[in-house]
Amino acid sequence: MDRVEIGSASKSIEPGVDLFEAIERLKRERNAVLLAHYYQDPDIQDVADAVGDSLQLAQAAARTDAEVIVFAGVHFMAETAKILNPHKVVVLPDPTAGCSLADACPAEGLRALKARHPDHAVVSYINCSAEVKAETDVICTSSNAARVIRSIPEDRPIIFAPDRNLGRWLIQQTGRDMVLWSGSCVVHETFSERRLRDLMARHPEALVLAHPECEAPVLRLAHFVGSTAAIIRHAEGSAARQFIVATESGILHEMKKRCPDKELIPAPPESDSCACNECPHMKKNTLEKLYLCLRDLEPRIEIDEAIRLRALRPVEAMLALG
Ligand code: 13P
Ligand code: SF4
Repeated sequence: MDRVEIGSASKSIEPGVDLFEAIERLKRERNAVLLAHYYQDPDIQDVADAVGDSLQLAQAAARTDAEVIVFAGVHFMAETAKILNPHKVVVLPDPTAGCSLADACPAEGLRALKARHPDHAVVSYINCSAEVKAETDVICTSSNAARVIRSIPEDRPIIFAPDRNLGRWLIQQTGRDMVLWSGSCVVHETFSERRLRDLMARHPEALVLAHPECEAPVLRLAHFVGSTAAIIRHAEGSAARQFIVATESGILHEMKKRCPDKELIPAPPESDSCACNECPHMKKNTLEKLYLCLRDLEPRIEIDEAIRLRALRPVEAMLALG
C-alpha cells in the first residue's frame, strides 16, 4: 500500500487504484465539485471541474449546487468557499497548504492598525484568514482590486492588507493614498529585476506579463500587469508571439493549452538553484491527496460561526461588485 503523509496524518492508498478514474467516480458518488487554481499541478488542473484565478474560484464556490467542494488550492481559498457555504462539506487536499501573505497578517495586528486609523475603510486581499476578513469592509482579488478601491468614496481613507506590492501598484493605478500592511508573496518577490532585464535583452520581441504581487521594479518592466486569469487572456488575445511570464509556473499549463503556437518563457528568480517560481504551498496538493480527501471527505474546513458571519459581509460585498 502507498502511504501518503498529510500534515501530521498518514494515510494509505489501496494498491492498483487508478487515481484519475477513482477521482472521477468519487466526484459523482459524493456529488462533489472540484475547483482548482491555475497554480496547481497539471494533473490536478486536468481533473478539475473548474480551473481559475482566485475570483473565478470564489464565484464558482458561490454558485455551485454540489454538496461537497473539493478545493485544490490553498487554505484561504477553501476557507472562502466555506464562508460562502456553511452547510456544504469543504475539503482541502492538504490542510497545511497556507500562504505567506495570509501568514503575514494576524487579525490582532490588523485590529491594532485599525485602532490607529479608526476613520479608514479596510480593503483586504482575499489572501488572508477568515479572522482578517472579519475585520474587513471589502475583500478584493488581483482581478478586481482597482474596481474595489474605486468603490470606496473618494473622501474615505483606506487601509490595504496584506500585500504591500499589490497595494503600491493599486496606489499608482487609482491615485488613492493608502496605509499598507507590509506582507508579500514568497513566490512573486523572488523574481529578479536584473535577470529579467537580461532575458528581455535576449528576447526583445517578448512581452512581459506580470502578476501584481511582484515587486515594483519587476512591475515597472512589465508590458501587462494582471491576475492569473487576466495574464492568460492577454497572451491569448495579443498578436505577440513571445511572452515572459512573471508569476507562479503552474500558470504555464493553461497558457500552453490556450496559446499552443506562442513561446512562453518563465521569468527568472534570483537564483537558479531553487524552484522559487513554484509556490511551496500550492504544490503540497497532489493527485494522491486529492483522491484521499474525496474518499474520506477530510480534512474539512471548519470556521467559528460568529467569525464566518462577519467574514461573509466583505466577501459578499466583493462578489456584488463583480
Ligand atoms: P490570482 O488567482 O488572483 O491571480 O492570485 C494569484 C495568487 O497568488 C493566488 O494565491
Ligand atoms: Fe500565497 Fe504567493 Fe502561494 Fe499565492 S503564490 S498562495 S500568494 S504564497
